[in-house]
Amino acid sequence: MKVILYMAMTANGFIAKKNDDVDFVSAASWQSYRDLAARTGNIIVGRRTFDLMQKAGDMDGLENIHIVVVSAHPKDVADPLMVSFADSPRSALQYIEERGLKEALVAGGATLNASFLKENLIDEIYLDIEPTLLGAGIPLAGNSDFEKSLKLLGTKQISENEIQLHYQIKK
Ligand SMILES: NC(=O)c1ccc[n+]([C@@H]2O[C@H](COP(=O)([O-])OP(=O)(O)OC[C@H]3O[C@@H](n4cnc5c(N)ncnc54)[C@H](OP(=O)(O)O)[C@@H]3O)[C@@H](O)[C@H]2O)c1
Repeated sequence: MKVILYMAMTANGFIAKKNDDVDFVSAASWQSYRDLAARTGNIIVGRRTFDLMQKAGDMDGLENIHIVVVSAHPKDVADPLMVSFADSPRSALQYIEERGLKEALVAGGATLNASFLKENLIDEIYLDIEPTLLGAGIPLAGNSDFEKSLKLLGTKQISENEIQLHYQIKK
């Protein structure tokens, strides 16, 4: 199974403002993310990101896909979405694999990204580079310490001032 990380970030590597706001993410980036989620049939998110999605009502286009929330504290989710909980990145991948899906889509946030990257579980990354600089914010993988080499698979201009980078992680 191929594991893909998708993130929209500022040109200097922040995925959110310090207060969790992501208002710099363009409509084109949101659409591209939803398209990829529809293709993979799933997203894997950290518990904080899921809580923020629920609070913001950011569930458009995710009604018919598996949403796997990684958390040490699973809970019941009383809504019509296909939500399940996993207690680790590997068990989230196992859940998706058991459902016969060929790709897994990791969709943040920073702590979850760091877990997947540090465990060497990501095969490809899409990065939407928003035309924004922030003095401070939440970095793509928090402050975790690792280094990865990337192979460029493609670039695409997805809106007037915005490029999407597509990388493979060299293993
Ligand atoms: N720009 C973008 O594309 C984008 C996308 C997504 C999110 N974001 C932003 O990212 C920020 C959230 O990131 P975050 O780092 O604060 O939170 P997060 O990664 O969304 O969630 C962290 C939580 O996920 C669970 N978790 C993560 N790794 C785990 C592991 N290895 N094993 C078990 N549980 C694990 C834990 O939940 P428990 O505490 O329940 O155990 C942890 O507290 C928000 O500001 C959001 O807006 C941006």
